[in-house]
Amino acid sequence: MNLIIVEDYQELSLKAAEMVASEISQNPQVVLGLATGSTPEGMYAELVKMNRHGQLDFSRVSTFNLDEYAGLDAEHEQSYHHYMYKHLFSHVNINHLQINMPTCEVSDLDHFCREYDQRIAAAGGIDLQVLGIGGNGHIGFNEPDHQLRVQTHLVDLTVETITANSRFFSSTEEVPKQAITMGLGSIMLAKKILLLAAGKNKAEAIAGSLSGLITTALPASLLQLHRDVTVIADREAACLIT
Ligand code: PGA
Repeated sequence: MNLIIVEDYQELSLKAAEMVASEISQNPQVVLGLATGSTPEGMYAELVKMNRHGQLDFSRVSTFNLDEYAGLDAEHEQSYHHYMYKHLFSHVNINHLQINMPTCEVSDLDHFCREYDQRIAAAGGIDLQVLGIGGNGHIGFNEPDHQLRVQTHLVDLTVETITANSRFFSSTEEVPKQAITMGLGSIMLAKKILLLAAGKNKAEAIAGSLSGLITTALPASLLQLHRDVTVIADREAACLIT
């Protein structure tokens, strides 16, 4: 893995945006896998700036998001649909027909999951997958477990994730208990992966994910098997790497 340690969140956001922008410039029809959460917000803000200044064209880019809560409709303020439009899609010249987001708001969820994976495959797979990381080492909503799923699926969120994400809701009870997530298959088949981590509550997960050991108890550790992963971590997130 290629590890880049930066001073702070601002530098992380700029470096991450430069990497995404470079992929788009090299291949205007790039297929991006996108993440939500607080970590990539700054990166999206930088990408929006580049697009506004005419330096970056999203018109032929396709996107696939990693995950979405179950039980929140797309208009809900904390849904990842809402997040993506708020932070990126509403502000850049992306063709909205080329935006793909998982959702549980369907009559046949199993069918939707299969079809989502087929859509990714039909697009030629993901060229660059952006990932955050949970304090418990989850990627997407692939939570630590004895087994991890290859395909897109419905997942029960762990207490750690519900607690961590309760900061976005008025109470822990309001946080959805389930979500749909891409499995490890589409993530590991991405041609490139960009993992972003900021803050000391990610330090243990980052150190474990770079430790040379892999375990489904720390899903991000599986990324060590991928050929082209760049980790951008700020000083706090990198502080336990040995
Ligand atoms: P965060 O979430 O960016 O809000 O810390 C990351 C994650 O849980 O994957």
